[in-house]
Parts: sequence; structure tokens; C-alpha cells
Amino acid sequence: MEYPIFALTNKVAIVTGASKGIGVGVAKSLAHAGATVICAARDSKALNSVVADIQEEGGTAHAKHLDVTNVAQIKGLFTEISQEFGAIDILVNNAGLGFNHAAVDVTEQDWDDMMNVNQKGLFFCCQAAGEVMLKQGSGRIINMSSQASVVGIKDHAVYCTSKGGVNQLTRVLALEWSNQGVTVNAVAPTFTYTPGTAERLDNPEYLEKVLERIPAGKVATMTDVAAAVVYLASPAGAMVTGSVLMVDGGWTAQ
Ligand SMILES: NC(=O)c1ccc[n+]([C@@H]2O[C@H](COP(=O)([O-])OP(=O)(O)OC[C@H]3O[C@@H](n4cnc5c(N)ncnc54)[C@H](OP(=O)(O)O)[C@@H]3O)[C@@H](O)[C@H]2O)c1
Repeated sequence: MEYPIFALTNKVAIVTGASKGIGVGVAKSLAHAGATVICAARDSKALNSVVADIQEEGGTAHAKHLDVTNVAQIKGLFTEISQEFGAIDILVNNAGLGFNHAAVDVTEQDWDDMMNVNQKGLFFCCQAAGEVMLKQGSGRIINMSSQASVVGIKDHAVYCTSKGGVNQLTRVLALEWSNQGVTVNAVAPTFTYTPGTAERLDNPEYLEKVLERIPAGKVATMTDVAAAVVYLASPAGAMVTGSVLMVDGGWTAQ
């Protein structure tokens, strides 16, 4: 038999929201697997520091400014990347907003802000990368979803709605593009320990409530989430498309 290949040597990967949190872990892990990683987000200083870390570890990475709510900027950047690097092999749509409110307190601005990043931005990044990948006849798109895409979580009306839509979009794009060599999948983490979630998860009372719902008895690490992304991006994941890979320690198995 042929053995599965997880290496990403010579692959060009874009990671949105690679300036902090899970996106940093994903960018570093893709670079560790051999990809040239384009780290895209708004905070250029933070991006430069991520790129410097990757280079220090012997990887290849570049920082590119991107606001995913600006469709013209997405199109311009993805065209620039495909010309500069000769391909877009992997897109990880990680940029996302995650604030929460009781449903009665949600404002129109809250709704627009979250949907513009979590759904509209993600869709147009898929479209811009898809255009290049379909011409290449190959590509991997991984959309960052959440356990909140398949179960309701109190006080997360907009977030749950946005991530449910990410799963549906993932399925539709998989149907449209998989017969042309482009796989489209989602990764759906549970609570993940990042510098941004540390304050909440370091609070023993908050953590206890979270862990009551996670059969594995622990929150996810950035490595847990990055592992799923690397798998779906790799040659080993070629037959997987249109799926939502739960990285939730069993939260949604209940
Ligand atoms: N952490 C968790 O527990 C958890 C659990 C399940 C799912 N997720 C999902 O995982 C993803 C990352 O979450 P995280 O916790 O790592 O978030 P985070 O620490 O808040 O980081 C969010 C990232 O998204 C980027 N971003 C936000 N708005 C953007 C915009 N308009 N244009 C470009 N980039 C933008 C930010 O970069 P700039 O500010 O520099 O633009 C930042 O790099 C999200 O999709 C989230 O929903 C997280």
C-alpha cells in the first residue's frame, strides 16, 4: 500500500487571522510541515512578529495586510499572492470574531460586525482562493468553525448562527469544487486555550463550568486545532471533503 503523506513541502498556504490566537498556531504548524505560509490580518506589527518566529524556527513565512471585511482587498491580495508565489495551495479561513451577548441585547452593529468577518469575509476568501485553485486543478480550503456551529450555546446567538453558516457554506463549496481537485472542509474546535481566552479559562469557576461539558476533561490546545488543519491540508486528507472535523473533546457527542 501507499502510506499517507502529511508533509506540505512546496505548498503555498494563506492563513487569515494569523496575527494572534489559533491562527498563529495554525501558521506555525503549516510552516513546520513545510509550507510557505502567508500570514494575513490587520495588525502588521503582530504579523511581523509571527513571521519572525517562524523564520527563527527555520520555516518560510510572509506577512500581508488584510481586512477580510473588504472584498476588493481580498481579491487584490489573493491575485498578488498567486502571482508572487505561483500558486495558492491551501487557504485556512481562521479570522473570526467571538464576542457574546444575551439575544435581547444584540445590536444591529453587533450582528453586522460578526457576520461581516465570520461569514462574508470567509466566503469571499473562499471565492478568491477557489478561482485560483480551480484553474490549478488542486487546492485545500479549511474553514475555522466551532462546536457552536452544531449545538446552541446560550448568549451566543450571533456566533452560533455565523458558524452554522460556515458549515453549510463548506458543504456547498465541496459539492461545487471537489470534482475539480479542490477539497473544502471545516474544523470545529471546543474552547481553546489561547492568549485571548487565557483570562477566562484561568478562572477556576469558569473552567469548571466549561469542563462539565467536555467528556475529555480538558480544553483544546492550539496544537490540537492545528493538527486537524494540517491533516486536512495534507496529501493524506485528499479523500476528505465537505466534512466538519470536530476538535471538541466530545462536547457535541452528547
Ligand atoms: N479560541 C477558541 O476557544 C475558539 C473555539 C472555537 C472556534 N474558534 C474560532 O477560531 C478562530 C480564531 O479564534 P481565536 O480565539 O484565535 O481568535 P482571536 O485570538 O481573537 O484572533 C482572531 C484573529 O482574527 C483576526 N481578524 C479579526 N477580524 C479581522 C478582519 N476584519 N480581517 C482580518 N483578520 C481579522 C485577528 O487579526 P487582526 O485583529 O490583526 O486583524 C486575529 O488574528 C475564529 O474563527 C474563532 O471563531 C475559537
